[in-house]
Amino acid sequence: MSRVRHDPPGLRALLDTIETQRSGCEMAGSPLYADVLDAVASDVVAGGTCARVLAPLADAPFGDAVLLRFLAAVHLLVLEGAEPDLASQYPSAGGQHGPAVGSLFVAAVARHEDRVVGLLDLGVQTNEVGRSVALLGGYLELARAGLPLRVLEVGASAGLNLGFDRFRYEAGDQAFGPAESRLRFVEPWLGAAPDLDVDLVVASRRGCDLDPIDPTTPAGRLRLRAYVWPDQPPRRARLDAAIAVACEHPVAVDRADAVSWLDAQLAEPSPGALTVVVHSIVFQYLPPDDRRAFLALLDDAGARASHDAPLAWLRMEPGGDRAETRLTTWPRGATELLATSAFHGPPVAWQLARPVSA
Ligand SMILES: C[S@@+](CC[C@H](N)C(=O)[O-])C[C@H]1O[C@@H](n2cnc3c(N)ncnc32)[C@H](O)[C@@H]1O
Repeated sequence: MSRVRHDPPGLRALLDTIETQRSGCEMAGSPLYADVLDAVASDVVAGGTCARVLAPLADAPFGDAVLLRFLAAVHLLVLEGAEPDLASQYPSAGGQHGPAVGSLFVAAVARHEDRVVGLLDLGVQTNEVGRSVALLGGYLELARAGLPLRVLEVGASAGLNLGFDRFRYEAGDQAFGPAESRLRFVEPWLGAAPDLDVDLVVASRRGCDLDPIDPTTPAGRLRLRAYVWPDQPPRRARLDAAIAVACEHPVAVDRADAVSWLDAQLAEPSPGALTVVVHSIVFQYLPPDDRRAFLALLDDAGARASHDAPLAWLRMEPGGDRAETRLTTWPRGATELLATSAFHGPPVAWQLARPVSA
């Protein structure tokens, strides 16, 4: 964009980040946020409130997801009822996306500048239970070994994906999960699905997060909904269904950082169970030293794993413009690519041709 070329470096970086996020939202099916971010870019160029709010974060790496935090902050105001004008354009609040959405968004930021700046401190807490579809195939592979699973999720946020076995998944004449589940995934795989006819027992489940969200409280639920893009009703519906499941079966998510928590969890062996360390869309948020420490912990624990106390590392993380789900199992120490998918899950392309053995 020619307007960017002459801007100071900080502003140029910010406009580039806005443009990257704008096209990301457009490609991922949110024309509403694409329009909003167009208006935000214009306001930044004009030196408006958006420039003031975002300038201190202009040099943050894209992985800090500043724009997603910004969009979620304003969405929270809408869902709280503090922004009826903008709500009239947000389907998540009963409105309809129209051409005024961008200017109404910028006006809302101007009206609530201090609150938006405060909310920007919160990290990205997009809980996406569609990711359970990609992860399920890994859990099923592990369950074939015949041991109950001890599930440890880092970056679990509200812990919704820890309830993966309480959701229903249907593919052809196979299904997994309770038929009466509030959350149903119907044909979420592209082409062949993993074999769903497996007995899977979760012996225990626990998560950690820097800032856990309690989905059983009204404030927690509102925050979770604020991270779902306002013009994506199917994602909102599955979030609400997963929240209902979590309210019936609350799970423990400890307030802790990934490395110290995993260190403590893996310190003691767990004979008679298969320990699964799992995460989805979390690794990018760990500082490089923490990533190294995390991998070293897994290597150590892997070296101590046995056939009576095996270990697995199941993760769904970005691999280019898709998400990749991979599984490493110990004592064998082998890694397999299980699935590729959209970042929010379905449709999931199952990639594993033959079963994994521990
Ligand atoms: C994008 S959310 C993903 C949430 C969930 N895993 C999912 O896929 O629905 C990333 C989560 O990682 C958490 N997180 C980031 N850095 C962390 C750290 N060092 N230790 C623990 N959790 C962390 C954030 O608080 C946030 O809840």
